[in-house]
Amino acid sequence: MRVVIKPSAVAVADFVANTLINGVREQVFKTLGLATGSTPLPVYQRLVDAYRENRISFADVSTFNLDEYLGLPASHLQSYRYFMDQHLFSQTDFNRDNTFVPDGMSTDPIHSCEDYEQEIRRRGGIDVQLLGIGRNGHIGFNEPGSSLASRTRVKTLTEQTIRDNARFFKPDEMQPHLALTMGIGTILDAKHILLLACGDGKAGALKQMLEGPVSSHCPASALQFHSDVCVVADEAAAAKLEQRDFYLHVEKEHQQFIARYYT
Ligand code: GLP
Repeated sequence: MRVVIKPSAVAVADFVANTLINGVREQVFKTLGLATGSTPLPVYQRLVDAYRENRISFADVSTFNLDEYLGLPASHLQSYRYFMDQHLFSQTDFNRDNTFVPDGMSTDPIHSCEDYEQEIRRRGGIDVQLLGIGRNGHIGFNEPGSSLASRTRVKTLTEQTIRDNARFFKPDEMQPHLALTMGIGTILDAKHILLLACGDGKAGALKQMLEGPVSSHCPASALQFHSDVCVVADEAAAAKLEQRDFYLHVEKEHQQFIARYYT
């Protein structure tokens, strides 16, 4: 796995946004897998800025979001569909018909999950999947114990995830305990994966994911099986990595290698 350690969350967002912008412009990234949460927000802001400055168009790009709360309509402020519309889709030229988020209001969630998988396949798979990481090592809403071969399905959220996400809900608001999420197998099918981690709250999960054993106990550790993962972390999230200095060294060598042979 490529591990890129940046001095700040701002530098993480710059790096990830530039990677996405270049990939979309070069038409390498035609189908994006997108994530919610606070970590990717500055990335989306940079994509919006690039669109406003006429540096990019998303008119021919399709998107699939990782997950959605079961029971929340698209109009609910905390639904992930609302989040994506608000922060990215409505501010750019994405064709809404090409943006997919699991249907939180489905009356047949099991079939909706199967349809979601089928739609991903129909569009030729995901070119690049953006991921955050939960403090318990979850990706999407694949909580500890998730099958490493899982596909899109309904998951029960852990107490910790419910607590971590409670800050987004009003005290009297119903916070769902179930979610629809792409599976770990679905995520591993993406051609490229970009995982972002910022802040000291993510340091333990990142260490387990990168330097611990592959285990359903830390769902993100399954990414060790993927051949094209780039983990982009700020110093705070990278603080517990035993190999931190080596990752910095490798990245420096990588940049020199690219400059020498490919520019
Ligand atoms: C939620 C999402 C995840 C996300 C995680 C971390 O649980 N389902 O996809 O990675 O939150 O969120 P944050 O970036 O706000 O820490």
